[in-house]
Amino acid sequence: MKAASISDYRALAQARLPHFLFEYLDGGSYDELTLRRNREDLQAIALRQRVMRDVSGIDLSGDLFGQSVKLPVALAPVGLSGLYARRGEVQAQRAALEAGVPFTLSTVSACSIEEVRRASGAPFWFQLYMIRDRAFMADLLRKAAEAECGALVFTVDMPVPGTRYRDYRSGLAGAPGLGGAARRFAQAMVRPGWAYDVGLRGGPHSLGNVAPVLKGKTGIEDFFAWMRDNFDPSVTWRDLEWVRSQWRGPLIVKGILDPDDAREAIRCGADGVVVSNHGGRQLDGVLSSVAALPRVAEAVAGDATVLADGGVRSGLDVVRMLARGADSVLIGRAWVYALAARGQAGVADVLRLLAAEMRVAMALTGANRLADLTADSLEDLTHTATKGSRR
Ligand SMILES: Cc1cc2nc3c(=O)[nH]c(=O)nc-3n(C[C@H](O)[C@H](O)[C@H](O)COP(=O)(O)O)c2cc1C
Repeated sequence: MKAASISDYRALAQARLPHFLFEYLDGGSYDELTLRRNREDLQAIALRQRVMRDVSGIDLSGDLFGQSVKLPVALAPVGLSGLYARRGEVQAQRAALEAGVPFTLSTVSACSIEEVRRASGAPFWFQLYMIRDRAFMADLLRKAAEAECGALVFTVDMPVPGTRYRDYRSGLAGAPGLGGAARRFAQAMVRPGWAYDVGLRGGPHSLGNVAPVLKGKTGIEDFFAWMRDNFDPSVTWRDLEWVRSQWRGPLIVKGILDPDDAREAIRCGADGVVVSNHGGRQLDGVLSSVAALPRVAEAVAGDATVLADGGVRSGLDVVRMLARGADSVLIGRAWVYALAARGQAGVADVLRLLAAEMRVAMALTGANRLADLTADSLEDLTHTATKGSRR
């Protein structure tokens, strides 16, 4: 199948990946209410069509933390991306470089900071969780600085992991030892394309950045156990100040939904915030990102760069996020579906699709520049039901 859209890439990923990996990628926490809200709230936003406005000069480029970008989009950190395609993080970084957008490497990636830097020959962004072992954190920050990472994305919405029911049902969680391993093996065996590309040729199947402290343990259960034991639930704003003191470059705090938290992050030295609920994978029942976005954007206006993620599956969604107050947008599952389906070429294609869809949405909302996308680019649906009361 030729993929025409990100939802096509999702279908291709589902057909190629072992069941437990697709479910890990696709799912959210608990009843997946917030996961659904992320999509539904975006889709409910009506764009305001405007015509006859000379939209022959559409420009999607801009500047993000001192770096020129060709699109107001960055690849969000997604753990274990190296299990979706062979050395997946390197492939995604290469696609991002080609498209002129930043790629963010997760702390818990298959490829290490050094591998991605060496293989791609260029810097990227690095994402960090608060880990109990501060010396280990300081070491990662040093490696990120040596690799000239263009920004540090510090994720604050995972002091404890949310439970994902799908992972229990698929055999990824809750069935330790042989039972879980046998189920996963059986699921991999019916996906020969993946088994050959990633299972046979894609090793080492370990967490590149964490391998030194895992001391030879490489199983998927070892990884989850390490996360459980080492993510630090005692984290506070003082730790952010500590991170700030260890990192000279741009610092982006990811996982903010509340305007007060956004202001606090900036007080502690953040240069940007990501309005995010971790793709509906943490606290189920919280607001969708796009619903939380305007208040956060208003609270920090002019003091920090505002990014947002959650549910973005098209260029139209990017336009919606920008019109609601984001300066730039992170895409998560969208790039990983494409990576799973077609590797680097898939990720490159998704970035092309987003750009093409954005151009159409901007043309028909009468915007030539990203700055033209404002609340005015959207319909105010509270008025549409009342006869004669539009604007
Ligand atoms: C499988 C998966 C793994 C993720 N791993 C991380 C991670 O390691 N660090 C992080 O900050 N966010 C992580 N996230 C959250 C993403 O960075 C992002 O916030 C989210 O995917 C955005 O929603 P979307 O997938 O609907 O675009 C992960 C998301 C998914 C789906």
